[in-house]
Amino acid sequence: MKAVVAGASGGIGQPLSLLLKTCPLIEELALFDVVNTPGVAADLSHISSPAKITGYLPADDGMKKAFSGADIIVIPAGIPRKPGMTRDDLFKINAGIVRDLVQGIAENAPKAYILIISNPVNSTVPIAAEVLKNAGVFDPKKLFGVTTLDVVRAETFVASITGAKNPQETVIPVIGGHSGETIVPLFSQAKPSVSIPSDKLDALVKRVQFGGDEVVEAKQGAGSATLSMAYAGYRFAEKVIKAVKGETGIVEPSFVYLPGVEGGDEIAKATGVDFFSVPIELGTEGVKRAINVVGDANDHEKKLLQVCYDGLKGNVSKGIDFIKNPP
Ligand code: NAD
Ligand code: LMR
Repeated sequence: MKAVVAGASGGIGQPLSLLLKTCPLIEELALFDVVNTPGVAADLSHISSPAKITGYLPADDGMKKAFSGADIIVIPAGIPRKPGMTRDDLFKINAGIVRDLVQGIAENAPKAYILIISNPVNSTVPIAAEVLKNAGVFDPKKLFGVTTLDVVRAETFVASITGAKNPQETVIPVIGGHSGETIVPLFSQAKPSVSIPSDKLDALVKRVQFGGDEVVEAKQGAGSATLSMAYAGYRFAEKVIKAVKGETGIVEPSFVYLPGVEGGDEIAKATGVDFFSVPIELGTEGVKRAINVVGDANDHEKKLLQVCYDGLKGNVSKGIDFIKNPP
């Protein structure tokens, strides 16, 4: 199992690379960034875990060397928000970064599982899909937008109300996209079920939808969530790797291209969007099936979903258009 982090020297990239270095399921870990990867790799190389670690910069065919033979590539490359910005404000810079990295994956590791963290996820995943399609190597079962941080926040914030001792033991589907009102937590479908006082529900939903802003504001211009994102990115990557290696019954929401995966057509029809995050059962080939939880939403959640669909459609078409009609 060769894993790659693209954007490995950044706020997310470094702690994510640390967690991947300690993962016993990984034999080789390649770090790629436009700066500092030799230093980050040298530092992590002293950790006595099995993964052999290398660091590459763009010079001397660094991207080709980093990506060749990769099984899984996680992308946290790109600029983060500052207070007052939306994720969509990052599109101008990050769209091109993701396009070029995914082009490099299409050329050097066309069979790799691709996990996209770079924002705006609602648009960067459609960009990746278009680049892979143009290169003739798009496999929708292998392309994931990482929305795990929304799930992690839902687990944490709901526990602050229910008092659950271990927040991770409550499974909460968080679906839709990854920005503001496109993020829809379905607390009615939590397992085990949770009881949220009605006067606390709206604030809880809002906190999950706008949890990213909380961190951006607290960091006062120094960036957005990095450590919690590294945890979430690692959690999702580890699940993909475990499923690929044969472990069964692994389910985690992710933002995928619905028409290309089993069970996805029905959800695309219900939502009117092709890219959407739903609980995904993972298997040896990536997505085994998308699980339709949309129909089970209660009336309050259905209203939230309507707002989500409207916002998401624009974000998705903006990403597709960026590749189809380059600026
Ligand atoms: P950062 O600025 O600390 O790190 C980004 C890294 O990307 C830098 O090291 C930079 O050199 C590198 N980079 C830039 N262009 C590159 C290229 N062409 N190839 C390779 N590397 C390149 O930012 P961060 O805090 O780590 O955030 C990274 C991205 O992740 C942002 O877009 C942020 O919005 C996003 N993010 C997403 C989620 C999520 O839930 N999906 C959560 C948090 C942050
Ligand atoms: C998050 O949800 O924390 C990330 O998408 C970063 C951000 O810009 O809020």
